[in-house]
Amino acid sequence: MTDGVNRQILLVEKPAGKLGPQHFEMRQATIPEPRDGEALVRVRYISLDAANRAWMHGATYRAAVEANTVMAGGGIAEVVSSRAAELAPGDIVFGDIGWQDFAAVRARHLTKLARIEPMTYLLSVYGIAGLTAYFGLLDVGRPKSGETVVVSAAAGSVGSIVGQIARIKGCRVVGIAGGKDKCNWLMSELGFDAAVDYKDGAVFKALKAAAPNGIDVYFDNVGGDILEACLSQMNNGGRIACCGAISQYDGVPSASGPRGVPGLIVVKRLIMQGFIVMDYMDRRDDALRDLQSWVASGKLKVQEDIVEGLENTPQALIGLLAGENRGKRMVRV
Ligand SMILES: NC(=O)c1ccc[n+]([C@@H]2O[C@H](COP(=O)([O-])OP(=O)(O)OC[C@H]3O[C@@H](n4cnc5c(N)ncnc54)[C@H](OP(=O)(O)O)[C@@H]3O)[C@@H](O)[C@H]2O)c1
Repeated sequence: MTDGVNRQILLVEKPAGKLGPQHFEMRQATIPEPRDGEALVRVRYISLDAANRAWMHGATYRAAVEANTVMAGGGIAEVVSSRAAELAPGDIVFGDIGWQDFAAVRARHLTKLARIEPMTYLLSVYGIAGLTAYFGLLDVGRPKSGETVVVSAAAGSVGSIVGQIARIKGCRVVGIAGGKDKCNWLMSELGFDAAVDYKDGAVFKALKAAAPNGIDVYFDNVGGDILEACLSQMNNGGRIACCGAISQYDGVPSASGPRGVPGLIVVKRLIMQGFIVMDYMDRRDDALRDLQSWVASGKLKVQEDIVEGLENTPQALIGLLAGENRGKRMVRV
C-alpha cells in the first residue's frame, strides 16, 4: 500500500483460452470517497476462488466480470470511514471488494464479522469455503454414517473441508486430487481413507479400488470426466452434490457433458442437485457453531495458502487453476 494511492488490478481482456498474466494490468487510482450509505474499506485479504475464472465467461449467480474493470473478488477488509449507520471505522467486513487496496462499497453489500484470530479463518473455514463444504455436504449430500463419500478437488479449499466433515460424520472418505503428494497428504494429514490421483490416468479403475462398495455421496467440484467416472460407480439412491465444475472454467468448456446423464440417474435413482452457498446464509450461525467446535477439538484441520502482495494476485489465481494450492488460497494485501 502506498500513501494516497489505490492500486487496482484490472482484467484488461477476457481470456478466450487459458488465463494468463497478459489478461491483467495494475494501475494506480485515487482512493475513493464514500457516498451516503457507503463505507470506505481497506482490503486486508483477497480470496482466490476457482469461480473467479468462471465469472469471466459470463453471468453466473452474479454478473460477469467485464474487460477493463477492476477484477472482482471476495475478501476481508477493515472499515476506514463510513457514511452508513451500521458500520464504523475499525469494523471488519466481508464483501465483493475487488482486487485493490481500497474500495467504497454500499454497506448493505458488506457483512460485518466478529474480529477473530487468525483473521484468515474468516475466509477459509468460517468463510465461503467452510460454509460451502458444510451445507453442500450435509444438506445436499446428506451422508449417513458408514456410507462412502467421494470428493473431487479434494485438496482444495472446499474439498479439504468436505472430506474432513464426512469423516466426522462417520463416513468412508475418498478424495480425488492431482498428484501423489496431495493424495498422500489427504490421507496422512487430513485422515481421508483413500485418495485417487486423477493425473495418473485411469481414474475409473483407481476409483473402483478406492471405493470398492460403490459411492453413496459424490461432492462434485470439477464436472467433466471425473463426474462421469463417479456417476457410473454411484450406488442406488446415491446423492451428487453439484458444487462447481473447475475442469470447465479455464479455457473453452467442452461441448459434450458427461455420458450417463440422464440414463444412470434414472436407473440408479440418483439425486443430483446443484446449490449456491448464499442460499443458506440464514443458517450461517448454526454452521459456524459446528465448524468452530470441530476446529477447537482438533477434528477439523484448517489448511491455508497465503500469497503475499496485491501485485501477485493474478499469478495466484493462475496457479490455483493449475493446482498449486493446498487448502484455501488467499492474498495478503
Ligand atoms: N456452489 C457454491 O456455492 C460454491 C461456493 C464456493 C466454491 N464453489 C466451487 O467449489 C469448487 C472449489 O473451488 P475453490 O475456489 O475452493 O478452489 P480450490 O479447490 O481451492 O482450488 C481449485 C483446485 O481445483 C483443482 N483443479 C484444477 N483444474 C482441475 C481439473 N481440470 N480437474 C480436476 N481438478 C482440477 C486443482 O487441484 P488439483 O491439484 O487436485 O488438480 C486446484 O487446486 C469450485 O468448483 C468452485 O466453483 C462453489
